[in-house]
Amino acid sequence: MKLILNSPLDMHLHLRDGEMLKNVTPLTSDNYSAALVMPNLTPPITTKETLFKYRDEILALSSENFKPYMSLFFQKDYNYEFLKELKDEILVVKLYPAGATTNSESGVVNFNIEELRPTLEAMSELEIPLSIHGESDGFFLDREAEFIPVYEKLAEAFPKLKIIMEHISSKEAVKILDKHENLYASITLHHILYTFDDVAGGKLNPHLFCKPVLKREKDRRAILKLALNAHPKVMFGSDSAPHSQEAKEGALGAAGVFTAPVTLQALAELFEKHNKLDNLQKFVSNNAKKIYNITPPQKEVVLVKEKFSVPKLYGNIVPILAGQELSWSIESVK
Ligand code: DOR
Ligand code: ZN
Repeated sequence: MKLILNSPLDMHLHLRDGEMLKNVTPLTSDNYSAALVMPNLTPPITTKETLFKYRDEILALSSENFKPYMSLFFQKDYNYEFLKELKDEILVVKLYPAGATTNSESGVVNFNIEELRPTLEAMSELEIPLSIHGESDGFFLDREAEFIPVYEKLAEAFPKLKIIMEHISSKEAVKILDKHENLYASITLHHILYTFDDVAGGKLNPHLFCKPVLKREKDRRAILKLALNAHPKVMFGSDSAPHSQEAKEGALGAAGVFTAPVTLQALAELFEKHNKLDNLQKFVSNNAKKIYNITPPQKEVVLVKEKFSVPKLYGNIVPILAGQELSWSIESVK
């Protein structure tokens, strides 16, 4: 039994820099046609120079036929000319609330629309989508739900701006998706596979600790339903976020789940289990192409129903499902 995926896309990916970048870039570029690369380095990507340097580093480490779609780290005072110059070099501007997650300290402190207007108005005019990590600074399980009014306020204030709710994790986010024409969402593998019970219900599993945290079963089911049905306003974005084993397993464990090398195999297994394999192409490619109006490189990834034993480590990074067996593996890529 085979499954052919045309130009699979990972629309939310952390590649880091330095050694980590070297180790993880091929794990995505081998099996994906393109990926949207997040800008939360230290310091974050906010200038033309750092953007181009980062893009070129990624390209130098990528396998052939792979396109890194780049992003800028949101700042409230980007001006129109600056964004106009970079419009064709970026796919989104990514907004982080200050301190919400890894390397987001210089994010947005105040969600007063008037303060954010200069950048958002320019983006709207230039048709640059806004990608958002939507979490409040409240109780950890409620952070996404508490951020919903901000999503709605932004969607209403900038009706021409495409807004992507990244890595949705709650039924509350699912509920507003169809309420606003300009709201879209990315969905990770880990948020449709697991709940917070898998993180802390038994022995602590730091490798499933991420932001936004995995939530309750009813949240997982609501998001899973969107993914399995390939709802046209959602797309796959792994949020694969590598940290070293020491950083994940030590005290003050880092947030982020490393999923890049197993995403397609695990998605095939999950979609097959729910009799929805026919929708996987849309979820991992077609929807994103339409939402972002992009034409990624042509790449054909052939999956086959043969066992894949997930390695326990990729270098010093522990992947999701480490040491477990999946029922699908990647046979070839061309
Ligand atoms: O868990 C997370 N890790 N969530 C994010 O939003 C960022 C990411 C990272 O960069 O490690
Ligand atoms: Zn992320």
